[in-house]
Amino acid sequence: MKRASGLGAAAIAVGVWLAAAPAAMAAASAVRGEQIWSRCQACHALQYDRTGPRHCGLFGRRAGSVPGFDYSPAMKRSGIVWNTATLDRFIADPLGTVPGTTMGYAGVADPQERADLIAFLRDAKCGKDTGLGR
Ligand code: HEC
Repeated sequence: MKRASGLGAAAIAVGVWLAAAPAAMAAASAVRGEQIWSRCQACHALQYDRTGPRHCGLFGRRAGSVPGFDYSPAMKRSGIVWNTATLDRFIADPLGTVPGTTMGYAGVADPQERADLIAFLRDAKCGKDTGLGR
């Protein structure tokens, strides 16, 4: 039974994707992603902590693990490791994905915008030579 309902959901998801495909999912673009990331800059920088933790080195990092940043217990306990899939889910709905997070941001609803944003964040390495020391 579980299996059948799973397939049903998958079929619906594919239907939605096909309907949205022509207008939506172009290849992810880090250049567009940088523009979308400007929304995050209200609280985040790449190379240093602000209201939110630094965004450099996000890929492969355990949630809540930047030394010295005062995370919520919810984030520290979440067990998330940041990658394309986990970032997509969190950015779509921060409070729904990590209930109790102190990230007071509604999220990015558009899947294409999230893909672009994640393409940008994937390249954000910590270090002085990135040219992204903002
Ligand atoms: C209003 C301020 C604010 C905005 C805007 C904001 N964030 Fe955050 N963000 C935070 C705070 C505060 C935390 C720490 C949350 C916690 O500890 O629960 C956080 C945590 C995160 C984390 C977890 C990082 C880690 O080290 O585990 C990610 C990923 C993240 N934010 C991505 C984003 C992205 C992407 C955007 C823009 C689309 C964004 N945030 C916009 C405040 C913000």
